[in-house]
Amino acid sequence: MPNLTPSSPLAPTPTQTPNNEEKSLNELPKARFWEAMDIFQWEGFWFEPNLIKAAITFRSNFQARDDDVLLASTMKTGTTWLKSLSLCIMQNKTHQKYEDDILTTQNPHFHVPTIESMIYSTKALQVKLYDTSTPHLLHTHLPYAVLPDSVKNSNCKIVYIARNPKDTLISMWHFSNSIMRKNQDPFALEKAVDCFCSGVDQYGPFFEHVVEYWQESQKRPQKILFIKYEELKTDPKVHVSKIAEFLGRPFEDEKEVDEVLWRCSLERLKNLDVNKSGSVLLNVPNTSFFRKGEVGDWKNYLTPDMEEQINQLSRVKFEPFGLFF
Ligand code: A3P
Repeated sequence: MPNLTPSSPLAPTPTQTPNNEEKSLNELPKARFWEAMDIFQWEGFWFEPNLIKAAITFRSNFQARDDDVLLASTMKTGTTWLKSLSLCIMQNKTHQKYEDDILTTQNPHFHVPTIESMIYSTKALQVKLYDTSTPHLLHTHLPYAVLPDSVKNSNCKIVYIARNPKDTLISMWHFSNSIMRKNQDPFALEKAVDCFCSGVDQYGPFFEHVVEYWQESQKRPQKILFIKYEELKTDPKVHVSKIAEFLGRPFEDEKEVDEVLWRCSLERLKNLDVNKSGSVLLNVPNTSFFRKGEVGDWKNYLTPDMEEQINQLSRVKFEPFGLFF
């Protein structure tokens, strides 16, 4: 597993700083996220400042290969699950031996790095691609519009995972509280709902993020597979097989499907030693990626008014595009 060196197509090269593209952050609209940190609006979406720089570098420098696979999602929509499933699928074999299971060696976010926060970020970690002799398997939370041309124009495939907005919001609320408000009361849920609905949210607006990938997947179904977390939960065999076929690695038999689903099940991943401690992403404990993984958990938290606020937005933003959750 080689380190990213300056000669790697993924590594930021100091001479290629895209100054002509890089607007001063001060010129961008700024907002306070959860009364805790500044986020900036760039290309219609809201980001932490270091992610904007990373996104610009990614867009300028990254050369996608035709056999690369890019997983994409906004936050808390099942990224960890998709990374795990895709890793198993791309390995295209199911080892019986525990030692051969890549998921037992490191957290899925180590094996499938999120490009803007783990490779091009100023806080870059020593991420190693799992094997450069095989296709790159990478991930991004960035919106479709800002992806590099080489990703859009090559044969590199994209798998996008979406989740219903109410569960996404509740998952985000738990996650952000655990990261940003350790030893404090949780952030008021009403305010979190307002942030989410106004779009002033990390990688927000959520609805536009989902719709961009959805529309692109409708235009180019060979290029982008759009899957829903809920479908994967209710009909896992069908949908994981769809992913495998899309990636050109169809399962040979049902046993293989069952094996991959078992390896990637929430209960199993949560209880692997590599996920019970440590941190692949700075300040983000590996444990924080695994919670309940239920569809409809929002019912335990949202008031009818909050529910209606989000439903109303879903009707306006999703339904015209034929998107339903
Ligand atoms: P909940 O907070 O609703 O439990 P992401 O990976 O994009 O950060 O999304 C996190 C959500 O996916 C969390 O949802 C988490 O519990 C769930 N999740 C993580 N691993 C999963 C898996 N293997 N299967 C199903 N859901 C999973």
